Amino acid sequence: MLGLYSRRSASLRRAVQSTVGRNGFSCTAVCKQRTPWLRRCTEELTRQCQSSTRSVHQASVDHEELKRFQTLASKWWDENGEFKALHAMNDLRVPFIRDNLLNVHKTHHPGRPLAGLHILDVGCGGGLLTEPLGRLGASMLGIDPVADSISMAQLHSSNDPDLGERVRYRACTLEELSADVAGDEEGGRAGLFHAVVASEVVEHLADLETFILCCRHVLKPGGSLFITTINKTNLSYALGIVVAEQLLHIVPSGTHDWDKFISPVELERHLESNGFSVQCVQGMFYNPASGAWSWANSTAINYALHAIKVADDPQSDPQPDNQDHSQATQ
Ligand SMILES: C[S@@+](CC[C@H](N)C(=O)[O-])C[C@H]1O[C@@H](n2cnc3c(N)ncnc32)[C@H](O)[C@@H]1O
Repeated sequence: MLGLYSRRSASLRRAVQSTVGRNGFSCTAVCKQRTPWLRRCTEELTRQCQSSTRSVHQASVDHEELKRFQTLASKWWDENGEFKALHAMNDLRVPFIRDNLLNVHKTHHPGRPLAGLHILDVGCGGGLLTEPLGRLGASMLGIDPVADSISMAQLHSSNDPDLGERVRYRACTLEELSADVAGDEEGGRAGLFHAVVASEVVEHLADLETFILCCRHVLKPGGSLFITTINKTNLSYALGIVVAEQLLHIVPSGTHDWDKFISPVELERHLESNGFSVQCVQGMFYNPASGAWSWANSTAINYALHAIKVADDPQSDPQPDNQDHSQATQ
């Protein structure tokens, strides 16, 4: 979302200090070499992810954040309500995901371009993004720790027979799902998803590192991770807090914590050091007057990112898996 921020003056001071000298533009990731060091790191990190998911199934969860989304759970499908900007964002993020996936998988399913692909929508809320991706043919699993949001998502998708079995939901954390995948691995099945989508989610987490590790864990080798989020700049603070929240009331006040915002450079660093190769970062801009999103050269406010899971074994290149695994996420 454009920015729903809960702020204190101390945070503003930190914000100003930490963003001095930043121009808001992303650099291209430079570390794309798959070295033995990276292999050892990712193996170790995956082990950590598996063990943490067994013991702490909610490492990424900030319970204050969940309380806020709990109070909004009935509002997901009001296109002119609190989530208006997320509804409008589909105009950019759905084609962004579709086109990048088609570049990787080269599938040919006229009318259902994403058919045969299994996609996990993490932090799906009411399913605003899950549904349109399902309509493109993908087998979707939407998960969210807020059970009322999942109930709303299930209710809404049940109204569309076209979605049928392709869209399913589960109230759980990514860590819990990741632990299930670990169990499957023991039975010989690793990495269930061709893609993981986390749209407007990472700015709400208690632990980004665990979240990224778990995304990696549930992805097939060569699988895609799509993230949209908000940059940590003075401009994102000014437009997100002052304009969007306090002046225009586009979004409810107190939903975001500026301290959790992350620059594209920082996010790329986290991803590259945890077994991902960042493919592209694209700026996004929300016009509150028109209620429309457009792509922007600058990532100073919002941005979308596509990364690919690097294979554990550097000898085996990540080959896109185009086979239909229709039972894999059932
Ligand atoms: C701004 S909403 C975005 C919803 C949806 N992705 C969309 O764009 O329409 C953020 C969502 O992240 C969920 N969330 C918060 N913390 C989470 C966590 N630790 N793991 C997964 N989802 C989380 C919230 O419950 C909420 O539904």
